[in-house]
Amino acid sequence: MESTNQSLKPVTTRINENGNIEIGGCDLIDLAQKYDTPLYVLDEATIRSICSDYKKAFSKYPKVNMMYASKALCTMATSALLASEGFGFDVVSAGEIYTVYKAGVDMSKVLFNGNNKSFEELSLALNLGVGRISVDNFFELSLLNEIAKSNNKIVDILLRITPGIECHTHEYIQTGHLDSKFGFDLTQIDDAVELILNEYTNLKLHGLHAHIGSQIFETSIYADEIEILVKEIARLDEKFGLKLDEVNVGGGLGVKYTDSDLPPSTYEIADKIINSLNKNIEKYGIEPPALFIEPGRSIISTAGVTLYTIGTSKQVPKGKTYFAVDGGMADNARPSIYQAKYYAEIVNKPSQELAKTVTIAGRFCESGDILIKDIKLPEIEEGDVLVVFNTGAYNYSMASNYNRVQKSAMVLVNNSQSDIIVSRETLDDIISHDIIPDKLKRD
Ligand code: LLP
Repeated sequence: MESTNQSLKPVTTRINENGNIEIGGCDLIDLAQKYDTPLYVLDEATIRSICSDYKKAFSKYPKVNMMYASKALCTMATSALLASEGFGFDVVSAGEIYTVYKAGVDMSKVLFNGNNKSFEELSLALNLGVGRISVDNFFELSLLNEIAKSNNKIVDILLRITPGIECHTHEYIQTGHLDSKFGFDLTQIDDAVELILNEYTNLKLHGLHAHIGSQIFETSIYADEIEILVKEIARLDEKFGLKLDEVNVGGGLGVKYTDSDLPPSTYEIADKIINSLNKNIEKYGIEPPALFIEPGRSIISTAGVTLYTIGTSKQVPKGKTYFAVDGGMADNARPSIYQAKYYAEIVNKPSQELAKTVTIAGRFCESGDILIKDIKLPEIEEGDVLVVFNTGAYNYSMASNYNRVQKSAMVLVNNSQSDIIVSRETLDDIISHDIIPDKLKRD
């Protein structure tokens, strides 16, 4: 069965009676005029559709907890929306903890990850009642135990482990291989467990956690990961009499950025994970643990598009034709960091013949600020609106103010209604943290 992460465009995308592209019943030209560009647009129906795919796909296993990985896109509105779908949250900073808290999320369904959590962040997590902390290293074990002791609390934890699995994705987004910066090496787990059982008595260990990478297309590596996790749980029971009843397999399911991307469906991934879990539960003779998954990109990417207005153009003699848009690497860093590829169309010319191969350049002062290299588009004119698809994940969440350009606004569309969920930064926002020391002030 197909699932929404396999779609190139939001599920409500269509060409309307004005001959323009619409999403969520909203004409993208109207949105560009009303909210200005660059504009992030998120389609609520697509988010709900992929959530429903995940829930259906994993319903065959009795104890499943879906934890949306907030790093893909974290706003108060998206947090409230995903909470309404029954999702918990994987968070990685005080900022993400605070955002989900302020959005009214049930904090017992929040898991705090990260390889260098600070004293302040761990204290905030404890004070706001974050449900689980995935401890990444020995230093954190000791720090967290101290904080828990001084607050008179027992903290529920998982151990993040490095399973030693390489997945075939961009090297910057692999995390499960042996020399990764994340988690305990398999050979360090026993020392960590001994410390928890004997010294760090304010920590209660519930299970193991791993995450092997992102934008993953091969399902078989989940089976490898799960075997390692279950085998470790069985071994720790045998060695320490420790009954761990939670296993967190991380996120990673890929999406379709261009036609050549063929990610598996949530159903394929769920079958692989559940079958492998059941098989290994039997093989290693453990009680079925609660399963946690942490998808980020696959939940939010397909729902998002970015609108840009076409500005200047440049024809390099005997070379490329560039069209520049009013955004670029500060609102979507992925092409410049990961050589990521995107698909786009001209909103007001969706049916016109693809006349030309052009390159879409950003407006930032770097030659590397190219959003899309060599894409076929209709004849483009200044003022046309370009829609880049699949920008919901790791675009706004990785946005910067490079060149002191204000961050873009975001709207949520559904049933012909658009609601602003992140307002556009103003010039005063840009200088709001600047301070001129008295000695430099001019009278
Ligand atoms: N769980 C953990 C522990 C993670 O580190 C991540 C992502 C996820 C879950 C969610 O993975 P997803 O389902 O989104 O693949 N900035 C990069 C992606 C970095 C992913 C980091 N960790 C990009 O733009 O491709």
